[in-house]
Amino acid sequence: MNLSLKGKRILLGITGSIAAYKAPFLVREFIKQGAEVRVIMTESASKFVTELTLQNVSKNDVVTDMFDKTLQENGSWHIHLAHWCDCFVIAPCSANSLAKIAHGFADNALMALVLALPKEKPLYIFPAMDTDMWLHKVTQKNCNTIVMHGGAIFPPDSGELASGMVGEGRLPEPSDIVSKITDDLLSRKSLKSFLKGKKVLITAGPTYERLDAVRFIGNFSSGKMGFALAEEALNSGAEVTLITGPVHIDTIIGVHRIDVQSAEEMFEQVCNNFSHYDLAIFSAAVADYTPKNPLEEKMKKENTGEELTITLKKNPDILAWAGKTKSEHQRIIGFALETDNEIEEGKAKMKRKNCDMIIINKANAPNSGFGGDINTITIMAKDGEYKHYQPLTKKECAKEIITKAIQLF
Ligand code: PMT
Repeated sequence: MNLSLKGKRILLGITGSIAAYKAPFLVREFIKQGAEVRVIMTESASKFVTELTLQNVSKNDVVTDMFDKTLQENGSWHIHLAHWCDCFVIAPCSANSLAKIAHGFADNALMALVLALPKEKPLYIFPAMDTDMWLHKVTQKNCNTIVMHGGAIFPPDSGELASGMVGEGRLPEPSDIVSKITDDLLSRKSLKSFLKGKKVLITAGPTYERLDAVRFIGNFSSGKMGFALAEEALNSGAEVTLITGPVHIDTIIGVHRIDVQSAEEMFEQVCNNFSHYDLAIFSAAVADYTPKNPLEEKMKKENTGEELTITLKKNPDILAWAGKTKSEHQRIIGFALETDNEIEEGKAKMKRKNCDMIIINKANAPNSGFGGDINTITIMAKDGEYKHYQPLTKKECAKEIITKAIQLF
């Protein structure tokens, strides 16, 4: 017998949707695949399916009331349950619960558990509602917010709905839900261990090139892309060092972070560390030039007049240095920020800088690139084979890049 979820601990959240009638079948399907299931229901869910039914099929007590005296464990029941599980599945998820999740509510047992879920544990959400509710801009925006915060939304199926109308909104059949979750858990598992034992170095963010005591030449890089890569590499089992220019992002727990300001400082840190790493990814937006004679004091406009000419000198090209220096066991991935002719430019950059893979980033794609949450990338392998992607969140880009990077070893 193939028990695809053998030993898995699944937290199943049920919310107020007519599709809640499928929940007992879903519990049975999970158990059939070898999982243990604990159920949490909202009050509205209990109008569609009973607690007793779910208690019976799951063979476990069902949580409905966050203040229930029998489950308190000193008031930390939600923390313990969130740590107990391997993943949290919410099926069906109503429009109301989607909105609450997107905005961080904790006003019932199910919502409190969503917030208490450790961030490495997957949250799988299966919305089910009427078509217009599903397609409503607010619902779609809530879904995007949840995805941005790391949740996975599985869109509903199309078909006949409880209202008698036909359209998107149906909860997928229990066996489909189970296979979607199994596939995702399996791909996470294989990713998780794949960079185990590997050391990954990542550059991120902008560089600030000093003009005088208070001014610099910089760029709009936020560091989001590099931090997303660091997090993904960490989640894939690697030991990660992140060398970052000035950014406003919290340090990722488990990642060794080195802060620098200028290209010269970033270069120095890469030079000091590079030989100890198996893989280096250069996502930083490094200034190509720096002021030749930065002033110690503040430049006075009385001394400079109507026009100001600043002489710049070339910065070291960190990626090109790594390409020249790397040993046989090391792999390097560069970025190529291009506005036009990107495939040819990217290919030429990869060759020039001796990269094992290059991430071509379309600089002029709408809402993509510097500062925002999205990048429009093309991943190109050393042999010139490439794959274009639709605009993806930087987290999704990082996932794709790390998955491809794994194949370099
Ligand atoms: O930080 P975010 O706001 O999330 O934005 C992410 C990003 C847009 C900065 C990122 O996705 C990106 O595209 N980074 C590369 C930006 C860049 O400088 O591209 P480039 O084509 O000029 O440089 C090519 C490669 O050489 C890059 O890997 C760069 O890190 C590296 N380089 C460039 C110059 C230099 N002196 N040293 C380098 O190492």
